Amino acid sequence: MKERLSKIQKEAEEALKKAKTLEEIEALRVKSLGRKGFLTLLIREIGKLPKEMRPSLGRLANEIKKSLSQVIEEKKAKAKEKRILAPLDLTLPGKRPSLGGLHPITQVLNEVTGIFSRLGFRIVQGPEIETDYYNFEALNMPPGHPARGMLDTFYLTKNTLLRSHTSPVQIHVMEKKKPPIRVISLGKVYRYEAVDASHLPMFHQVEGFMVDEGISFSHLKGVLEVFLNELFGPKTPIRFRPSFFPYTEPSAEVDIGCLICKGKGCSVCKRTGWLEILGSGMIDPSVFKAVGYDSEKYTGFAFGVGIERIAMLKYNISDMRLFFENDLRFLRQF
Ligand code: DAH
Repeated sequence: MKERLSKIQKEAEEALKKAKTLEEIEALRVKSLGRKGFLTLLIREIGKLPKEMRPSLGRLANEIKKSLSQVIEEKKAKAKEKRILAPLDLTLPGKRPSLGGLHPITQVLNEVTGIFSRLGFRIVQGPEIETDYYNFEALNMPPGHPARGMLDTFYLTKNTLLRSHTSPVQIHVMEKKKPPIRVISLGKVYRYEAVDASHLPMFHQVEGFMVDEGISFSHLKGVLEVFLNELFGPKTPIRFRPSFFPYTEPSAEVDIGCLICKGKGCSVCKRTGWLEILGSGMIDPSVFKAVGYDSEKYTGFAFGVGIERIAMLKYNISDMRLFFENDLRFLRQF
């Protein structure tokens, strides 16, 4: 028995000398000192030997166990240190992280935000759940006003709704702050629409407005010209067309020269050479009245733009639904 013990000790020590990695050392520990290890089994055998043999053999076995454990612990500590200090080979080829990308709508939103920030506009957010007052009434659309029909609105209760445009943000801002004001607001709007290539029940808009003493239609033209030229490229032709919105007077819709046919006339611009891009106008005095501004003193302009429409024109996309189907083959192109 004594010989077997010292043989096990020798063999284990030999093997430990060769073991280098933490894994190898641990494997050897299990093999000798583990629950079914050589030494553990041998110690169990000693327990079955005649009484007078047990003490001396037991003592010897325990000493061997202690010394092996110690060697193992020391070797493990060294291996750990080595692992930490292992030289870093900077010439190895790197692992390329798989990159995500920004959604095309996010890209356009960022671009629009960038342009208006540079023009000194502040960016604010408004709630997506609105009351009838903010979405309609304060914007000069009292109950029964025919223009309410232009905005097919999702009602939550009789008085609350999902905003059908971003114009209510004008009211929130002006209620809280006195002029001068230069603000844009970007976000989701909701409309009760049948889904097709150019209509969705949810899309994004940017609302911009500026109020101060002496703001005129030429300020509106100047700001929109800078905006559209930055967005669609310098010298993009722009025209203002008389229109109507209850919250602006006068109102204008703005067209840009068709990006596809460069104004010659194609199916995208319905042979007109122009693409309608946004609604705008001088803020109606009745809106100022709703927020307690003196319309004799202050004037202002406002405009609203659909983000999906911009993205479709910019990237030449013919179906708006593609933006929200999350098909990576589509999204990876941006
Ligand atoms: N709110 C309008 C819409 O959703 C867009 C719009 C038109 C906003 C004229 C304005 C504006 O601020 O002056 O169709």
